[in-house]
Amino acid sequence: MKQGFYISKALAVVFVFLAVIGIVIIISLAVVCSEEKAKNVGNAVTPIQSIRPSTSTTLWTTPSTAMMSTSQPKKTWNHIRLPMTLIPEFYNVTLWPRLTQPINGMYIFTGNSTVRFTCKEATNLILIHCNMLNLTLFDGHHAILTGGDGANPPAIINSWWEKDTQYLVLQLQGELQAGKSYSLFTEFTGELADDLAGFYRSEYTEDGEKRIIATTQMQPTDARKAFPCFDEPALKARFSFTVIHEPQFLALSNSPLAETKELIIEGITWTVSKFEETEIMSTYLTAFIVCDFASIECPTFPFQVRIWARKEAIYKGHGNYSLKTAASILKYLEAYYNISYPLPKSDQIAVPDFNFFAMENWGLLVYHENGLLLDPNGSSTQNKENIAFILAHELAHQWFGNLVTMKWWNDLWLNEGFATYVQYLGVDFVEPSWSIKDLFVVYEVHYVFGVDALPYSRPLSAKEEEINTLEDINGVIDAITYSKGAAVLRMLSSFLTEDLFRKGLSSYLKAFQFRNTVYLDLWNHLQQAVNEQQSIQLPTSISDIMNRWTRQMGFPLVTFNTTSGEISQKHFLLDQKAIVRRTSEYNYTWHIPVSWMKSGILQPLGWLLNKSETKPELKVTGAEWVLANINVTGYYRVNYDMQNWERLLSQLQRDHSIIPINNRAQIISDAFSLAQAEYIPITLALNTTRYLSKDTEYIPWISALANLKHFFLMFDRSEVYGPMQAYLRKQVHQLYEHFENSTENFKEIPSALTAQYSQRVAVWIACEYGLKKCRDLSSGLYKQWMDKPSANPIHPNLRSLIYCSAIASGGVEMWDFGWKMFRNTTFTAESDRLRYALSCAKEPWLLNRYLEYSLNQEYIRKQDSISTISYIASNVVGQSLVGTSFDPVGKLCSISESSFYDFSMTSYSLLNIHGRDMKVSERFASESELRQLEQFKKDNEHIGFGVAAPTMTLALERTRSNIKWVNKNKQEVLKWFQEASE
Ligand SMILES: *[C@@H]1O[C@H](CO)[C@@H](O)[C@H](O)[C@H]1NC(C)=O
Ligand SMILES: *[C@@H]1O[C@H](CO)[C@@H](O)[C@H](O)[C@H]1NC(C)=O
Ligand SMILES: [Zn+2]
Repeated sequence: MKQGFYISKALAVVFVFLAVIGIVIIISLAVVCSEEKAKNVGNAVTPIQSIRPSTSTTLWTTPSTAMMSTSQPKKTWNHIRLPMTLIPEFYNVTLWPRLTQPINGMYIFTGNSTVRFTCKEATNLILIHCNMLNLTLFDGHHAILTGGDGANPPAIINSWWEKDTQYLVLQLQGELQAGKSYSLFTEFTGELADDLAGFYRSEYTEDGEKRIIATTQMQPTDARKAFPCFDEPALKARFSFTVIHEPQFLALSNSPLAETKELIIEGITWTVSKFEETEIMSTYLTAFIVCDFASIECPTFPFQVRIWARKEAIYKGHGNYSLKTAASILKYLEAYYNISYPLPKSDQIAVPDFNFFAMENWGLLVYHENGLLLDPNGSSTQNKENIAFILAHELAHQWFGNLVTMKWWNDLWLNEGFATYVQYLGVDFVEPSWSIKDLFVVYEVHYVFGVDALPYSRPLSAKEEEINTLEDINGVIDAITYSKGAAVLRMLSSFLTEDLFRKGLSSYLKAFQFRNTVYLDLWNHLQQAVNEQQSIQLPTSISDIMNRWTRQMGFPLVTFNTTSGEISQKHFLLDQKAIVRRTSEYNYTWHIPVSWMKSGILQPLGWLLNKSETKPELKVTGAEWVLANINVTGYYRVNYDMQNWERLLSQLQRDHSIIPINNRAQIISDAFSLAQAEYIPITLALNTTRYLSKDTEYIPWISALANLKHFFLMFDRSEVYGPMQAYLRKQVHQLYEHFENSTENFKEIPSALTAQYSQRVAVWIACEYGLKKCRDLSSGLYKQWMDKPSANPIHPNLRSLIYCSAIASGGVEMWDFGWKMFRNTTFTAESDRLRYALSCAKEPWLLNRYLEYSLNQEYIRKQDSISTISYIASNVVGQSLVGTSFDPVGKLCSISESSFYDFSMTSYSLLNIHGRDMKVSERFASESELRQLEQFKKDNEHIGFGVAAPTMTLALERTRSNIKWVNKNKQEVLKWFQEASE
C-alpha cells in the first residue's frame, strides 16, 4: 500500500510553519467518531434483510454466545487467528453489483462463492472469515458443504456469525478427514456502501451527470466483506472471479478477461464477465472493479500494461505520463529482480474516491487520481514526482509482497520498507536527471528520526503473536514501517553494495515465489550471497547486524571525539531523561557501519561493534575536520567534540561545497536534535543555519526550515517573531535573487528537480516572511490571471505558493475568484492547490465562510473535508475560529461517517496523524494553552478518547515540556535572532 507520504510532505512543508491547536482536537474527535461508527456496523447493514426476506436471514449474534458465560475458556472461534486445520486452494466467486438500481437509496451486490479447501487436521469445525454479508440459508444453515473425493461430508448442525472475530462458524456432526478436500458454497448479499472498504462504490461527476462505479480495497482485512474467505495473507489460493454487470459498464480484475456473454434476467440484459483463473495469491490482493472508464495501453510492450481513468481524463491525455513511466519501471524491475513479471497483464486504475494513495492489488493496481493522472499543462513537478514514486512503489510490490508475501502482518515492515526503498531506484531509472536518491534522507530518514527518538517508539519487527487485532495491524502501518524499514534496508544495501544486495534478493524471491516468508528468510539469502564471494567482508553475520536495527526500537547517537580518537554509541532520545519502558535484548547497542571523511577526503568504512572504541586515525589537528555518516547511509545521528563542530561550521562558511549536500542537511538536522536533547547549546544549532545565505541547494534548506519550525511554533506569537522573520528574510535574500536572475523573475523553471524545489523555497520563504518584491510578484501574477482566466501565467510548480500569498494579501474579490476556479476545475492537482490556498485568507469572515463550505459535500468532497478544516485551523486567524465559534463535535460527526475511515483505517493518513499531532503538541507552549487543553480533555472525558487517548496524554505532556523549554530558552533565542538578523 502506499500512503499519502509524498503529497502530504509537499503540504507538510507548508504546514511546517502553520500547525495548530485545532488539529489535535479534530483528530481526536475524528477517531472518536470513527469508533462510534464501528459500533454501528451491524445496524448499517441490517436493512438488507428486507431485500430478500423469504430466503435470507442474518444471525448477527450467536445463540451460543448468549448462553456462554464469560468465565468459560475461549472457544476456537474467539481466537482472532484461524486454526490451520483447513487450507484453501481455489475460490470460484460470482459477484453481481447493482449500480443503477438503488433500493431506498441503498446500493447492493449479490454473489456466491465456492471455496475448495484441504483438511490438514481432522476437525468438526469450519471457520471462514465473513463480515457484513447477509448469507442465504440452506436447510437452516449458512452454507452448503460438499465432499471432494466423492466422500460424503458430515452434516452442518449449527451455524452462526461470530461478530468479534468476523467468522462464519459451522459446527459439523462429524469430522472432516485429514488429507481430503471439500467445497463450501455460500450465497450472499452485501451493501455497496461508500465506505471505501471491501467491495464499495465510488461516485463522480462527468458531463454534469452523476456516475457510479464499484471498486475494492481489501488490505488488510476487508476481502471478507466482499466474499467469505480465509482472510489471512499466508492462506494463498487461486481465484476465479465472475462479475455480472450492466452492459454499459466493463469489469476488471486481477487476471485478464476470459470471456463475456449476455445474460437476460427478467427481461433485463446483463453482461457476464468471466476472468481467467489467477495465480496463487493472498486474499488481501484480490480486486474487481465495475466502471465505465477509458484506457490507454502500450502496443509494443511484451505484456499488457494499461492506464484506466475517467474518460475525460484519459481523452485529455492525463494518463500518458503514467503509462510511459509504468512500462519503463516494470522493465527496470524485471532486470532488478532478475525475474520476469509474473502475470499476463498489469492494469493501473485511478478511482475518484480512494482512501490510500494506491494499493498494489496483483495485476489490478488502484490509485488515487493524484497518484496516476498528470495534466501536462497544469501539473507541478511535485505532482510528477508523486506519480513516479507511487508507481514505482506499487509496481515493486508486484514481486516483493505479491509474488512473495509476508506470513503475517508483523512483517509488514519488510514489505513496505522494501517497496519504499526500491521506489527510489525505480524513479531514478525513469527520471535519471532528478537525482531522486539524494532526497531519501530528507524524505525518509530525517522524518522518521523524529518519531523513533521518542521513548515510546517501537521496534520495526514485532513478534507474530503481538499482532492480532485490526488495531494491531493498523498500528504497524506507520512511519516506522515505511521510512525506517526503507532506511535500514538502504543501510544494508550500502554496506553490502547494491549488487550483492540484489543478488541475495533475487535468490530469495526465486526460492519463495507464490509462497510466504518471515524476514529471517531474506537475511538467510543475503548471507548466502555474502558467503559466495570474497570482496565484501562483514564483521559478523547479517542477522547479527540487522536484528539490532529491526528488533530494538530507536537508533544510536554516535559521538566522535577528534581529540582523543574515541568513538562511542548511545541510544538517542530527544529527551535524555525520558524513561524507556521497553527493554531490549541487545541493551540498546547496535553494530554500526561507520563511513567518514577527513577534511573532504573519504576514509575506508569501519564498524563500531561495542559501546565505545578508540581509533587513533580519528584524531585531527589544526583546521582539519572529521565528518561522519557520509550521505547519511547509516541510520544514526552524529555528535562531535566542540572543536570539531566549530571546524565544520567554519568549513561551511568558507566553502560549503566540500561537504556533501546530504551531510550539510544532516549537520543542521543533527545539531537541532542534539540541542533539543541538551547535548549541545541551542546557539550552536542555530549557527548551523548561518551559512545558508550562500547555499542555493534545496536539501540543506528544507532541513533547516523543518528544524526552525519548532522555533516558529513556540515563538510566533511573541516578541521573538520579529527578529526571526527578519533573519529568514535576510537568509533567503540571495536565494531569491539567484532565481530572480536565473529564471526571469520566476517566469521560468530551472531544469534540475532540486533546483525547482529550491525555487519554491525562495518564493515560499520570501513571501511568507515579508520580502516585498515577492508579495508584489504574487499579487501581480494572480491579478493577471484574474484578468484572463483562460491563460494562467503562473507555472504549476509555484501556483500553490503564489495563490496562497495573493489570497493572504488580497480581499474578497481575490478569494471569490479562487473559489470560482476551484469549483470549475476538474483536475485534482489544481483543485487541491486552490483548496489549500483559499485557507490562506486573513479575513475572519472569509475563513468562517470557507469553514461552512468545507462541511458541504456539494462543494468539497467528503474525503477532503478534514484536510480543508485542518488547513483553515492551521492559519493563525483561522485557528481561533475552529477553536471557538465552531463546534467540531457536532458538525464533524454529522459529515458522512465514512470520511473518518481516514483516521481509523488508512495507512498514510495514520502516518500523517502521527506526524501532525506531534507537531501540534509541539506548538502548545503557554499556560493558557495548557488550560485550554485540560479543559478540552475534561469536557470530552464522558465520550472517551478511544485510540486517541495517547494523543491526548502526549499533547498534555508536550505542552508542559514546551512551557519549560520556552522559559529556559526564550532570552537566548531572542538575543541570537536579534544579532543574526542584523
Ligand atoms: C464456477 O462457478 C460457475 C457457476 O457459478 C460454474 O459455471 C463454473 O463451472 C465454476 N467453475 C469451476 C472451475 O468450478
Ligand atoms: C451464482 O450466481 C450466478 C448469478 O446469479 C448464477 O448464474 C450461478 O448459477 C450461481 N452459482 C451457483 C453455483 O449457484
Ligand atoms: Zn506499499
